[in-house]
Amino acid sequence: MLRARQAIQYLREYRPPLGDRVGLRLDFNENTAGASPRVLQCLRELSLEQLARYPERESVELAQAEFFRVRPEELLLTNGVDEAIHLICETYLEPDDQAVIVVPTFGIYELFVGAAGAKRVSVLAKQNFEFPTQDVVAALNDRTRLVVIANPNNPTGQVASRVDLLGIANLVPHAAILIDEAYFEFYGETLLDQIGRLPNLFVARTFSKAYGLAGLRIGALMGPADQIRAVRRVASPYNVNSVALACLPAVLQDQDFVQHYVDEVRQGRERLQNELRSLGVRYWPSQANFVLASLGQQHRPFVDEMRRRGVLVRDRSHDPGCDGCVRITIGVAGQMDQLLSAIRETVAEIRSPKEVSA
Ligand SMILES: Cc1ncc(COP(=O)(O)O)c(C=O)c1O
Repeated sequence: MLRARQAIQYLREYRPPLGDRVGLRLDFNENTAGASPRVLQCLRELSLEQLARYPERESVELAQAEFFRVRPEELLLTNGVDEAIHLICETYLEPDDQAVIVVPTFGIYELFVGAAGAKRVSVLAKQNFEFPTQDVVAALNDRTRLVVIANPNNPTGQVASRVDLLGIANLVPHAAILIDEAYFEFYGETLLDQIGRLPNLFVARTFSKAYGLAGLRIGALMGPADQIRAVRRVASPYNVNSVALACLPAVLQDQDFVQHYVDEVRQGRERLQNELRSLGVRYWPSQANFVLASLGQQHRPFVDEMRRRGVLVRDRSHDPGCDGCVRITIGVAGQMDQLLSAIRETVAEIRSPKEVSA
């Protein structure tokens, strides 16, 4: 009988709640304003011949490397950060190697570490989801071959300091350190300038969030040239499709669009946090395009009532340390008006002071 590898048999399926997502979608950390209109122009200009050919990444990679100020041999375009994570796991993890992740965090790490048959070592964030530097250091050993850290982290919006991240990378030169900067644009700090300076440091960036291209699936993995060469061996030469490759240069040139959106998100984030504070709902100040809030035992009615009012938010109460938590993506100004009034009404409806207050 045909059987999947043992590691796959024990793998928990990663199942985001796709499907019935009608309303204002503040549940997936997507760009709620769409992508730059220049994308539509690129799509119109695509020829059938272009679609008939296999995609060629190289010229776009050169432009992308220049944009990120790394050498072309230090960058690989990927099918979103998801693929970057997968490739890193495939490249570095042998069965029974250890991969350290800080939880709660993005669920895909666990998936690809598990699929590689490696052992996941989960380190719980400190109080208020602060980055547990000392506990991460304590979890490192000779078998550690990967440390993946989302910075800012999803679903908490918390960040780790540059000094701490570089310190960890220095402690385990035999391990790949992947800093997932999917939400960089909403935060502003990066380790990209360290690419090529540390022999084991990788940074991943996506165009799914601030750039609004989640549906096109494109991201970038950057790291030391010799390591990127190894990772390239694992990647399909056609991992990024022609449509994404055709649109990316135009999108990069439209920095006004990205900046405008990021400014709106930052203002919206402030408005949401102020509203939660004034309602007495506990939340964790975020550096990303979402905010994690605690609704206590009322989290499920909160999500359902918000949905009834046409606003989708994400129940994160099953994540480690997130009992009663809901993640709310930030929208643009008009969407924030809708969100805030829905929150006010919902909190008033479900309120029972013991359960919702901080
Ligand atoms: C931390 C983090 N990394 C990566 C991703 C996925 O990025 P991509 O769409 O580029 O695969 C997400 C999406 O939610 C995320 O939260």
